[in-house]
Amino acid sequence: MQKLSQSLLQQGKRIGFVPTMGFLHEGHLSLVDVAKKHSDVAVMSIFVNPTQFGPNEDYERYPRDAARDQKLAQQRGVDYLWMPEVEQMYPAGEQTKVVVTELTRGLCGPFRPGHFMGVATVVAKLFHVVQAQVAVFGEKDFQQLQVIRRMVKDLLMPIEIIGVPTLRDPDGLAMSSRNVYLNEEERKEVLGISQAIQAVQALLKNGETQVEKLLAVAKSILEKSPHLKIEYLEIVDKENLEQIEKIDRPARILIAAYIHQKRFIDNGALE
Ligand code: PAF
Repeated sequence: MQKLSQSLLQQGKRIGFVPTMGFLHEGHLSLVDVAKKHSDVAVMSIFVNPTQFGPNEDYERYPRDAARDQKLAQQRGVDYLWMPEVEQMYPAGEQTKVVVTELTRGLCGPFRPGHFMGVATVVAKLFHVVQAQVAVFGEKDFQQLQVIRRMVKDLLMPIEIIGVPTLRDPDGLAMSSRNVYLNEEERKEVLGISQAIQAVQALLKNGETQVEKLLAVAKSILEKSPHLKIEYLEIVDKENLEQIEKIDRPARILIAAYIHQKRFIDNGALE
């Protein structure tokens, strides 16, 4: 892949990159559309990165379907699909990590120790191989997006990062490879997350800017789902992800919740 990218760059091509962990859905494919708009050649990677999963997380059972992914990627116009092996991404004896500090202290950070270090490290490696001028990520993992933006800035990486709004199923559920874990009943309860976000967005539109009040409404909606356990529910400054008391700048509501050991995250703009 590295040699191929070098040759593409020598030919004056602009490379657009979509890093994924596979089990593609329309959300991923919409990132391909954006990458294609900004480049001559679209590269997608599929790599289920072991270092971003905690010991009790779903690395082993994370959904995988390489044949289906290849078909979907090709149909959507991906020019090169790169599926590295763990041994290639993590050479024996590896010791080097990328750590983004402040942005990973809150939200998912404390609940998934080491997760963002795994993400930042693998994304840095993927970037070094693909050498794209532009990379596209979904806003569904909003903290991840901000962490990657920070890493790129701090490490002076010559790449533009584009964030793409979350795609939702008609019922409002944010598209995610992990949605296959949900049965019908669980899905109904998990919908409480997107409903809470929508309700807060509607209240803000009507002029309510007090975070305490907005969070109380979100909480009451989430509590209507009896099996849904809130991990965090926060309204933060969009850039530094720090909690705020009033929506007087671009902000974001972020929610993580569990249902029967299955974890879901979602977020929405409050601007
Ligand atoms: O969002 C994902 O799918 C992954 O975290 C990423 C960015 C591909 C890194 O493994």
